[in-house]
Amino acid sequence: MTSRGVCKWRFILKIAGVYICITLGYQLVKLSMNQLKTHANSNYVRASQSFLNQTTTLARVTHRGVTTTGYDRANYLRQACQSAMIHQVGKQVRVSYDPNYKIMYCPLCKLASTFWTRVFKMVELNSMENTNEHLLTPFDVPISKARRSELYYNIQDGSITKYGDAKDSFKFVVVRNPYGTLFSAFVDKLVGPNPFFWRSFGTPATANRKSKVCGSDVTFEEFLRYVVKTHKAKKQQDCHVANFDACHPCGMNYTYVFTMETFKDDTIHILKLFNQTQTLKEFETKFSDYHAHDAIDDSTSGPYSWKPSITKCISWHTALQGIWRKLQIRGVISNNETFPLKEEESMDIGRKGFIKVLSEARKRSGKFDSSKQKKDEYIKMFTQVPVDVLESVREIYLKEFKLFGYDDHPAELFVRA
Ligand SMILES: *[C@@H]1O[C@H](CO)[C@@H](O)[C@H](O)[C@H]1NC(C)=O
Ligand SMILES: *[C@@H]1O[C@H](CO)[C@@H](O)[C@H](O)[C@H]1NC(C)=O
Ligand SMILES: *[C@@H]1O[C@H](CO)[C@@H](O)[C@H](O)[C@H]1NC(C)=O
Ligand SMILES: *[C@@H]1O[C@H](CO)[C@@H](O)[C@H](O)[C@H]1NC(C)=O
Repeated sequence: MTSRGVCKWRFILKIAGVYICITLGYQLVKLSMNQLKTHANSNYVRASQSFLNQTTTLARVTHRGVTTTGYDRANYLRQACQSAMIHQVGKQVRVSYDPNYKIMYCPLCKLASTFWTRVFKMVELNSMENTNEHLLTPFDVPISKARRSELYYNIQDGSITKYGDAKDSFKFVVVRNPYGTLFSAFVDKLVGPNPFFWRSFGTPATANRKSKVCGSDVTFEEFLRYVVKTHKAKKQQDCHVANFDACHPCGMNYTYVFTMETFKDDTIHILKLFNQTQTLKEFETKFSDYHAHDAIDDSTSGPYSWKPSITKCISWHTALQGIWRKLQIRGVISNNETFPLKEEESMDIGRKGFIKVLSEARKRSGKFDSSKQKKDEYIKMFTQVPVDVLESVREIYLKEFKLFGYDDHPAELFVRA
């Protein structure tokens, strides 16, 4: 890849969200026959206590700076599942599936699921015999056409709706460090104005101080405390903050574990399996632009369609500033840019006009260090939260940390000056 290409790919990583923990060592979780005996009868999602007690100080995403492959991570997951004696109920898993390439994907929300749903749709359209237009990238698939799949894979007999036997397919799942997932959910759904998430998270999370703005002013700490509280009360979790159980990490026998932290390498690998050379070529030089444009469009369209509900709670000027802030935290616009609209201008500007304002701010941002900006925001947000709250977060996602080899106690988030 050219150095320009590498540069662009680095940018993708930034946008995709890179919270790569520094690798200090590397420990394989050892199989323990005792655990096998102790928990042989449990038939629901439960990891053995001693497995969870083992310290994985080390993110398995990288090993001494060398990125592991998705196949390595799948092997690790298989061993961790055996070691943890995790059994899972339910045998139907919702997946996307391509019968030509025999590739199966289990979506978890907030984890590039729209992107992958669009890739599957693009591959399907490009595989059609009489297609006269070849889609260049998944961004050419309108979001409205990338509907969630209604295919179900049966773990017990290896069959899939409509297509029958799919035992030998390439199965992958996309995961991310749980701290990164929570950060991303908060930034996307609560920093960016969203009345549905104000209702489901903002309002209940600020109940004790009775927010006057529908919970739109919920802080990251309040959000985390609320997530912890609902997990502890064993309430049904919104998929954005749920455990990864929906994809049955231990039941599916995944071929490949895709991580958001290795977005670049993993995307290249899977697009190669799909033989989408045109996309690979296009992405090599232009992915960051595609991605930024998509992020800007997506962050703006929703709020404009919810404008009546939003303005019952906050001014439209404040709402647009929320969109702006979200794009800064996501590293699309430099923090050096200041919000350019006056209150009256915000009232008047339409969706297309505002998209133009955002695109221009991105252009003005130039070649800023997007990855550093994003990482700084991530650390800043977490280090403002008391350590005991982080400890509770750690506990509720302990299984995810352990199964996928993420550091559950990263110093950069836990150590206070
Ligand atoms: C795991 O750790 C908890 C608290 O740290 C302790 O109470 C428990 O006994 C430990 N369990 C095992 C099996 O080591
Ligand atoms: C799980 O997948 C691995 C590697 O893909 C394979 O070697 C193994 O036989 C599979 N196990 C089961 C139970 O299907
Ligand atoms: C991959 O696509 C190219 C053209 O884009 C085609 O010539 C080739 O046969 C395809 N390979 C497979 C394995 O489908
Ligand atoms: C922002 O401005 C400061 C001071 O003018 C400068 O040092 C810094 O490099 C700029 N940062 C970016 C991301 O452009």
